Amino acid sequence: MAELRRPDNMKRITTPELAKAFIDEQIAALRAQIGDRKVLLALSGGVDSSVVAALLIKAVGQQLTCVHVNHGLLRKGEPEQVIEVFRNQMKANLIYVDAVDRFLDNLAGVSDPETKRKIIGNEFIEVFAEEARKLDGVSLLAQGTIWPDILESEGGIKAHHNAGGLPDDLNFELVEPVRILFKDEVRIVGSELGLPDGMVYRQPFPGPGLGVRCVGAITRDRLEAVRESDAILREEFAKNGLAGKVWQYFTIVPDFRTTGIRDGQRSYDWPVVIRAVNTRDAMSATVEDVPFALLQHITDRITHEVAGVNRVLYDLTPKPTGTIEWE
Ligand code: XMP
Repeated sequence: MAELRRPDNMKRITTPELAKAFIDEQIAALRAQIGDRKVLLALSGGVDSSVVAALLIKAVGQQLTCVHVNHGLLRKGEPEQVIEVFRNQMKANLIYVDAVDRFLDNLAGVSDPETKRKIIGNEFIEVFAEEARKLDGVSLLAQGTIWPDILESEGGIKAHHNAGGLPDDLNFELVEPVRILFKDEVRIVGSELGLPDGMVYRQPFPGPGLGVRCVGAITRDRLEAVRESDAILREEFAKNGLAGKVWQYFTIVPDFRTTGIRDGQRSYDWPVVIRAVNTRDAMSATVEDVPFALLQHITDRITHEVAGVNRVLYDLTPKPTGTIEWE
C-alpha cells in the first residue's frame, strides 16, 4: 500500500461520480489493509488530513483516533470547526490537545524565523508522539500524503518525511488513502464525503501557522491582532467575491509600533499589513488588484475592531522580490 503509484492512465477525478467511485474503492482498500487494527491520524483541519479523516471514518469508524493539536497559531475558529465537523457531526474519535501555552512559552523571546519554525515543528512532533504513546495497540498511522508530495520528494525538491519524523520507538505502518491524488481531486473527494466548503476549498496555510505572520518574537497580544485582523480580511473577501478568486490572502503584524491618533489622544500601536497574492505554484506570485474602496473598508474595520492596531498597509510586492509569507 505504501508504495502505491498513480497509474499512468488514471482518469483525473473531476466529477462527483468519479469521486464516489474513488471513495468506494478506497473504503474497500482501507478495510482490507486495516482489518481490525487501530489507526492514528494527526488532524490539522487542512484539506488533506480532513479528507483522510473523513475517508477513514467511513471505512473503519471508531478504529480511527484523530489527534488535533491546537498550537495556538491556528486561524480564528479553526479548532472549533475541527471539533464541530469531526467530533459532533461525523462522530469521530477525536482527541483535542490544547497545547497553546506549551508552544507559546517555548516561542517566547525567539525572533529568528528559522528557529521559530524549528521549535514549532519539533514541538508538534513531541506533542503528537506523547499522545500516540498514551494509546494502546495502535499500529497504523494515517497521513495526508498526496501525489505531488511523492513527485517532489522523488525530484529532490522537498524532503517528504514518512511518518512526519516521529521518534524511532513509534514504528507505524502507514495508511495513505489520498496518496495518488492531485490537490484538486482531493477537494472533489472531500466535497463528496460531505465536508464543508470552508474546509475543502480553504486557501493554503503554512504548517507554522500564524507564527510566521506575527513577525519576530511572538507575543500573545500581537498574535491576537494577527488572528483578529485575518478573520476580518477573510470575512470581507468572502462577502465581496474575492475568497474563491484570490489564491492566498492574510494579514501580518510586524513587531514595531507607530504613532497615531484615536479619540483625540495619541496612540502608539502596531500596523497590520494585508497581503493578497495569486500564483500557480507558489514559486512566483503577483499581487491582487483589490478595489481601493474595499481596502478602505477593511482598514476601517481593522483599525476599529482589532485591539492595539492604528494603521493598515497593503503589501504591493510580487514574488520575487518578496516571498509570499513575511518570514
Ligand atoms: P513563501 O513565503 O516561501 O511561501 O513564498 C510559498 C507558499 O508556501 C507556504 N509556506 C509554508 N507552508 N510550511 C508550510 O507548510 C512552511 O513552513 C511554509 N512557509 C511558507 C506559504 O503560505 C505559501 O503558500
